[in-house]
Amino acid sequence: MACFFRRHIASKLSKALWQPEETFISSISAIPVSKKQQSPDFRFSLSSLQQNSTLPSADGIQAKIEALVQRLKPDNVVEEILVGRGTINFKISRSVLAEKILEKLHGEGHSFGVKSELFSSLQKGRTLVEFSSPNIAKKFHAGHLRSTIIGNFIANLKETVGNEVIRVNYLGDWGMQFGLLGAGFQHFGSEEKLRVNPLQHLFDVYVRVNREAESDESIWLAAREFFRCLEQGEEQALSLWQRFRDITIEEYQRIYKRLGVHFDEYSGESFHQSQTKEVLRQLKDQGLLQTTEKGTGVVDLSPAKDMSYYSTVVRSDGTSLYITRDIAAAIARKEKYAFDEMIYVTDKSQSGHFQQMFQILQAMGYEWAQSCLHVPFGLVQGMKTRQGEVVFLEDVLDEARARMLRNMKESRTTKDLEDPEDTAQEVGISALIVQDFKGPLVSDYAFSWDQVLQAQGNTGVFLQYTHARLRSLIRMHEGSLEATFDPQLLQEQCSINILQHLLRYDEVLYRSLQDLQPKHLVNFLMTLCHLAATAHRALPVKGSPPAQAQARLRLFRGTCTVLANGMRILGITPVEKM
Ligand code: ARG
Repeated sequence: MACFFRRHIASKLSKALWQPEETFISSISAIPVSKKQQSPDFRFSLSSLQQNSTLPSADGIQAKIEALVQRLKPDNVVEEILVGRGTINFKISRSVLAEKILEKLHGEGHSFGVKSELFSSLQKGRTLVEFSSPNIAKKFHAGHLRSTIIGNFIANLKETVGNEVIRVNYLGDWGMQFGLLGAGFQHFGSEEKLRVNPLQHLFDVYVRVNREAESDESIWLAAREFFRCLEQGEEQALSLWQRFRDITIEEYQRIYKRLGVHFDEYSGESFHQSQTKEVLRQLKDQGLLQTTEKGTGVVDLSPAKDMSYYSTVVRSDGTSLYITRDIAAAIARKEKYAFDEMIYVTDKSQSGHFQQMFQILQAMGYEWAQSCLHVPFGLVQGMKTRQGEVVFLEDVLDEARARMLRNMKESRTTKDLEDPEDTAQEVGISALIVQDFKGPLVSDYAFSWDQVLQAQGNTGVFLQYTHARLRSLIRMHEGSLEATFDPQLLQEQCSINILQHLLRYDEVLYRSLQDLQPKHLVNFLMTLCHLAATAHRALPVKGSPPAQAQARLRLFRGTCTVLANGMRILGITPVEKM
């Protein structure tokens, strides 16, 4: 597998250049598959070593490369060593390539590529990922959906390479809206409706109370009174609030399950009421809190300390703000979990908020604020269901399932499925995820069901379809799979292309770990699908001589394993049939 070859090449370079192998490891990378010509497998880029003074300067670099290539001799692993532009290119013996990769895949299965030495430079330890974080009684909008699937991907990725991961959902469960909701429920809430369809009912009550409060002063007063009771911890108000919260979490858990997402903790803004007071006290003691003319409390964040840039942390009536609660929550989490890094996933409109929050923590002397990170994403425009605007997460999941089921029935692929609904759901969700993860997260995009659910092209449907086709091939021949195979029999261009592509898997994970963008992995998997589809057409298993059939099966099984592994990291459940 890639590590083995990288090591091998590094050891050759090490002997020729009198430097430790480690110097070279990260400068050796797998070359992307080229459809047009046979390409070598790895390149060593001299420029990435430029900072090292004992190595040649940019000027004579090409001459040095040529001289160096003269000194590096091929062996039974590296068949050819070639001069490239600024690089030295290595071609691995074709049978060693097939043998090593497919042996590794056979032995490692799920953990293929995840123990790569490329990851050794990365931060290990405990990662807290906060994501999804909807607001009780409000809409679960496309932004929350994005946060959910992106956060889940980041958590999966970190877990895959050996970090301990804590998944936290930070609910919007406090603030004046709970005064309105409480008062609203007392006026026109229904226990019956709350039981039957809790999210819908809470939402309806909230919408109605807001509307009526516009023209009815008394509702405002009741709402303010209800919130005051909550803030003071009065039992009746608190127990109603607690019920809203519990019911909401229960519903969400059920729906997240459909998405294959879970949380280790449901926290929320409400937990940090007493702690926000502590934060304010600390800010005051440290001389960081200033009171403005309007009576609000602010922290000056400007470099010149001239209040040209500041953050408001307390209202003039003494109540806390979103950022104050976030600061308190972060401190409490650090105490509770002793995380090594904390990642927040929200839309990009909150970037400024997190930047200020990290700055304030830093100013308070919390050095660990440096290991807090905000991963921003862009807006999704026009996500609608047949009922209209998306209000609940479940609407999106239902719509994806219904549309996918219809497509499957039209193409008559449902006939031998035991559970067409489940399959349609998984495929529909894959389609949403792939669409969302294709580009840079921070970009906005326009949503279209037709595009998302296309069977061809770089879609989640195609990804699932390719995986299912390979699975069915493997199932068909499961009984005849032998322990050994002849790697000499995988010499066709389309086999080599797949093998070369698999060499890049750990580099792709590495890139995603560095910038936390799923697009590297998505693009890798899409290319793997296209290469697999070509090979599937060109390399029949059935009817081929037994040894050849065996080798091809190995290739397809290995491909299928990597597809499934990658899909799971993305948060996609691979289906067996479709
Ligand atoms: N509930 C917030 C919203 O819907 C997102 C919370 C993000 N996390 C945080 N720690 N501020 O906008």
